[in-house]
Amino acid sequence: MAKKNLILDVDTGIDDAFALLFAARHPEINLLGVTCVDGNTNLKQVVINTLKVLDAAGAGDIPVSKGATRPLIDEPRYAEHIHGSDGLGDLGTPLSTRALDPRPAVELIRDLIEASSEPVTLVPLGPLTNIALFLRAFPETAAKLERIVLMGGSASSGNATPAAEFNVWHDPEAAAIVFSSGVPITMYGLDVFMEPRVNAAQAAALVAEGNTCSSFAGRLIEHFIKQVGHEVTLGDYGAVASAIKPELSTYETFKVVVDTTFGPGRGQTLCDRRAWKDDGDATHVNAPAVKVAMQVDVPAMINLWLETISGK
Ligand code: RIB
Ligand code: CA
Repeated sequence: MAKKNLILDVDTGIDDAFALLFAARHPEINLLGVTCVDGNTNLKQVVINTLKVLDAAGAGDIPVSKGATRPLIDEPRYAEHIHGSDGLGDLGTPLSTRALDPRPAVELIRDLIEASSEPVTLVPLGPLTNIALFLRAFPETAAKLERIVLMGGSASSGNATPAAEFNVWHDPEAAAIVFSSGVPITMYGLDVFMEPRVNAAQAAALVAEGNTCSSFAGRLIEHFIKQVGHEVTLGDYGAVASAIKPELSTYETFKVVVDTTFGPGRGQTLCDRRAWKDDGDATHVNAPAVKVAMQVDVPAMINLWLETISGK
């Protein structure tokens, strides 16, 4: 089977780490590069965490670039209550000796797409600041993208606020630029994000495996469970799985508008679920249609991740 060319944009936190470990190890994925964005924690820490995770995955020489240090308009607002003060479960793993690619994120994304003779899928797993800047700086290259499969948004309710999912809420203007770009988009949002979960027994089994990747993954899960007190979602990983195995999710197509007003709905992804008829409101009429994941094959998603991480 031909490998899928992916570029991941991450705000490495714990579930970004689950996604990176998987993307670096799965045989059907050609991980072209990784870009870092301010999100779960500050950009400096996201870079440190991302390089550590690639070490744990035993990844080869994959280019990693840093991007935006903060959202386009809002001040940064972090999620360390979930991801730990270092954003990676405070595991105390050693710093990586990997060198950062000198190019800024938007240039690395451009160069990787331009250099690829095969289609490329962009998989943002954090706030969409880097992606918005890339779309505005290099629209001709963006038009060559096969698809953007993003973790973000919600066709129902939020997690950062009652209305908004964290990645979109962190930078609503960036999200509005991405959703209205015309690039084909799959939204892997909160409607499915929490479904694929792992428990303490699975974490212990991964730690007992004894290899670097599985014990790192197992310890991350154990930290996460300690934070939240119950089994934990594989989160961002699901978007990567959806990018290479879309058959593991079921989708509906909605016109999506991002609320960028400064009210209680800021950062909401308004999915128009009405039986569509032209109500004359240009905001909705002109919004591009988005494939929204509404259900996932939970056991298949979990097994795919566990098999890939443990190398079985
Ligand atoms: O709302 C969930 C998203 O916010 C995930 O990407 C998680 O890593 C955080 O960035
Ligand atoms: Ca993330």
